[in-house]
Amino acid sequence: MSEKVSTHQCDVLIIGGGAAGLSAALHLAKDSNKKITILSKEELGEGSSLYAQGGISAVLDKNDSFESHIEDTLIAGAGICKKSTVRHIVENAPSAINWLIEQGVEFTLNHGNEYDGVDGNYHLTREGGHSHRRVIHADDATGREVTTTLEKLVKASPNIEVLENHIAIDLITSKRLKNSAKLNNKKHNYCLGAYALNKECNTVSTFRAKVTALATGGASKAYLYTSNPDTSTGDGIAMAWRAGCRVANMEFMQFHPTCLFHPHAKSSLISEALRGEGATLHLPDGTRFMQDHHESMELAPRDIVARAIDYEMKKHGLDSVFLDISHKDPEFILEHFPNIHENCLKFGIDITKQATPVVPAAHYTCGGVITDLKGRTDIKRLYAIGETTCTGLHGANRLASNSLIECLVLGKSAADDIKTRLNTKKYLMPELPDWDASRVSDPDEQIVVSHNWHELRRFMWDYVGIVRTDKRLQRALNRVNLLKEEIAEYYSNFKVNNDLIELRNLVAVAELTVRCAMERKESRGLHFTTDYPDLSEKLTDTVLIPKRFSTAVKCREWS
Ligand code: FAD
Ligand code: SIN
Repeated sequence: MSEKVSTHQCDVLIIGGGAAGLSAALHLAKDSNKKITILSKEELGEGSSLYAQGGISAVLDKNDSFESHIEDTLIAGAGICKKSTVRHIVENAPSAINWLIEQGVEFTLNHGNEYDGVDGNYHLTREGGHSHRRVIHADDATGREVTTTLEKLVKASPNIEVLENHIAIDLITSKRLKNSAKLNNKKHNYCLGAYALNKECNTVSTFRAKVTALATGGASKAYLYTSNPDTSTGDGIAMAWRAGCRVANMEFMQFHPTCLFHPHAKSSLISEALRGEGATLHLPDGTRFMQDHHESMELAPRDIVARAIDYEMKKHGLDSVFLDISHKDPEFILEHFPNIHENCLKFGIDITKQATPVVPAAHYTCGGVITDLKGRTDIKRLYAIGETTCTGLHGANRLASNSLIECLVLGKSAADDIKTRLNTKKYLMPELPDWDASRVSDPDEQIVVSHNWHELRRFMWDYVGIVRTDKRLQRALNRVNLLKEEIAEYYSNFKVNNDLIELRNLVAVAELTVRCAMERKESRGLHFTTDYPDLSEKLTDTVLIPKRFSTAVKCREWS
């Protein structure tokens, strides 16, 4: 294997090629001569965005209103959404949808007229927690339509360079460099680029950039069962944390109530839109149970439905519960959910004829790197967008289909801010040291990595899952500490590879999640602990500050 190193230079380095990274890149590239580089650790587009099913929420119906979308988001967020963020995203959502349509995204048209009050041509579906139909979609494969459309445009753009199979390892910041004398202001921490491993030739390159944007998605792979693809290992959150950014609200891990339960089905989501269109939840004997848990039954917010399923499964000793839409006309089911129907058929389940076994699984990371409304982080020249962030939109629980819209709106806001700054400010780009692999050797055995990977995901599921206790969290923290030490030792002795980089990040996000969960002495939204089952009167975020920058764990009140 080659050991050559190389240095790349660009104006904007975007790490991640999902909805957030792709949309930011396209906005940056428009009417601009700036060089943009996108790093993607798998093929471009492989990430959660590709698998999004239900759709994208936006006020598009004349009988709907921004105030109603804001209200629903705040209710789901259980009191700790940041109102200014919610308003910014909700009010910019319709133009983000128009932008997607202009780019060529084909949303499902409204053929059936099975509901009233539609202003436009598009079919709007309903999901839990929304008081109106406001989820625009492309059948049940919205993410694929959005991602593949944007991906084609990105690949055709002359000033966007795409480097697939490049996994970013760490950010390069001025505080870490011995000599950052050429930068104007030594008081601040600046991001100057990143190191990334080219997985095809196993070399680590240095990427020098005027501005870097993290768009690396969430951290659901920290859990044994997840709806997410393999890319969701919290890399951006871990890199930003190591570089000096504050991270908030990691205790709010969203579990999607309905993932297909089958020994051979990996990460197969059954969209909430099925419940939106009338699917019901049952015990194996056919009894419905959601009436015992919430007045909105199957359309209650996700945390409530996931906890209700967890409760019923534990109470009755079940492997799964069942989701049933077979009472609907088969034609309706095939028209609305062709991909879910086809996927379930692969496992011998025909959703037009029978109920589907489902279980909850880790789905969405509501917490992350703290940013403002322009995607700016605590580090100068470092932005973060998409699921990797904590903007204040989701609070303690994300409303269904409010994620892609956050990627799109903040992707544009960040791109606009970066463009303005690049056009008006001078950016010094100091020489950066090459990646130093002089003291590491080839790994002696991979079993340490694969064992620790499995152990981490198992104890996160068992101890930091849907229902928590102080004891379980302490057990998890003890294990995190052991793994952290082992992984750090391995990392300092052996050459990096994809699995090691991801494992190092997973243990970092596991620690952040456990520490946030331990800080919250109440049950709110997605964080439910039997030791503190009630809501506290104080509305706070859990804000963690990296040790090198401060030792404090801070609870900050949103304004
Ligand atoms: P992603 O789309 O996950 O993209 C992250 C990118 O970063 C990938 O390209 C990945 O390869 C890259 N990357 C990660 N780490 C590195 C690294 N170290 N170096 C280089 N590249 C890296 N939300 C909705 O609003 N509506 C829905 O209907 C919906 N359905 C969903 C269904 C499923 C099955 C899942 C899993 C999620 C769903 N969500 C939905 C959530 C939503 O899809 C995600 O929150 C959103 O797509 C995140 O976009 P992103 O761009 O932030 O990250
Ligand atoms: C789904 O289709 O159920 C997922 C929607 C989301 O996660 O927002």
